[in-house]
Amino acid sequence: MLDWDDAPATPRKDPRVDLLPPAAVPARPLNTMSVKTPAATPRIPEPSEFKLTPPQAQAEAGATGLETIEIGARRIQVDDKKIINCRADLNQLVPFKYEWAWKKYLDACNNHWMPQEINMSADIALWQDPNGLTEDERTIIKRSLGFFSTADSLVANNLVLAVYRHLTNPECRQYLLRQAFEEAIHTHAYQYCIESLGLDEAEVFNMYREIPSIHDKAAWSLPFTQSLADQTFHTGTTENDQRLLRDLIAFYVVFEGIFFYVGFVQLLSFGRRNKMIGVSEQIQYIMRDESMHMNFGIDVINQIKIENPQLWTATFQEEIATMLREATELEIKYAHDTMPRGVLGLNASQFNEYLKFICNRRCAQIGLKQLYPGAENPFPWMSEVMDLKKEKNFFETRVTEYQTGGALSWD
Ligand SMILES: [Fe+2]
Ligand SMILES: [Fe+2]
Repeated sequence: MLDWDDAPATPRKDPRVDLLPPAAVPARPLNTMSVKTPAATPRIPEPSEFKLTPPQAQAEAGATGLETIEIGARRIQVDDKKIINCRADLNQLVPFKYEWAWKKYLDACNNHWMPQEINMSADIALWQDPNGLTEDERTIIKRSLGFFSTADSLVANNLVLAVYRHLTNPECRQYLLRQAFEEAIHTHAYQYCIESLGLDEAEVFNMYREIPSIHDKAAWSLPFTQSLADQTFHTGTTENDQRLLRDLIAFYVVFEGIFFYVGFVQLLSFGRRNKMIGVSEQIQYIMRDESMHMNFGIDVINQIKIENPQLWTATFQEEIATMLREATELEIKYAHDTMPRGVLGLNASQFNEYLKFICNRRCAQIGLKQLYPGAENPFPWMSEVMDLKKEKNFFETRVTEYQTGGALSWD
């Protein structure tokens, strides 16, 4: 039931794609942004540079779900559904076209948890003990909470204000709604840890504006979401559809699939040494959710590619590879910044290899060649942690019961 780092689902192929021989794929203007800077770092246009979508392209853009309801309209067929630029009614969940999205929604609901179910008393005692942790260990805890506490809000804002509007499929939107709630739970979990340990909240929540290696990751991601959230932006042209695809890769593959992993390894390393076991357990739940978010995003990305093969040009692939390389370097820099000396049996140089290994996996998952051939995983226990949790009842130590319908009081 738990999806940690699954192979991408076999996305449903749009039968209409087969009807189009390559030459019949509509000739659309190349992404001029990419043509101007073919091999250089991709330049993301500022929101102010984004032109209003031409009326014709706007007509090609998808439905929102808020259109006028047409009485007696033809019933929705599965092949009316498209992952982007769909013009069929978005308020009808069934018939399902993307079973993988619905399955992930159900799995996510089965994995529900809340931060206050985890006992933090051992962490509080250890944190308050002047000899409980070294300064380097304390720095790692604070930096991780500093990064994650604002990162999950960024991800949630991208989902709700940018991605949701442009994915025109009800079963995918159903998962997005669940994911958005999970991001809120994650932000809650970080706040719960910060509050339990009595950390300086202003210091932690401002780290993304005060600590360069945390700032750089958050700042890297922002341009990808900014113009998508602009109400004048619509998909429906090659350039704009590529822009959506680029944003999905930036957030699902880079942010949730690369930028979280130094923090995950570091915080889980505490738990492996029987330190900060509450924080470590919170991270296990979060990592399980994030793994599913990333897998969902990868399925969406691959489905968009199948339905819109004209978007996945050689130039675009090169641009994405550049993004992934740049992101991997930023995360390596973050590893070195958070642990200038070896700690918890880890050292920063192990992360050089680990992040290249992770980047290779992400490349393979979206159909790109590996950027760092031969990179190996120096932390095989990371996958063991994940696998063990698949077999264990994750909730066997659960301390609270959810209120069910029968227990609700109406007065
Ligand atoms: Fe999250
Ligand atoms: Fe997430």
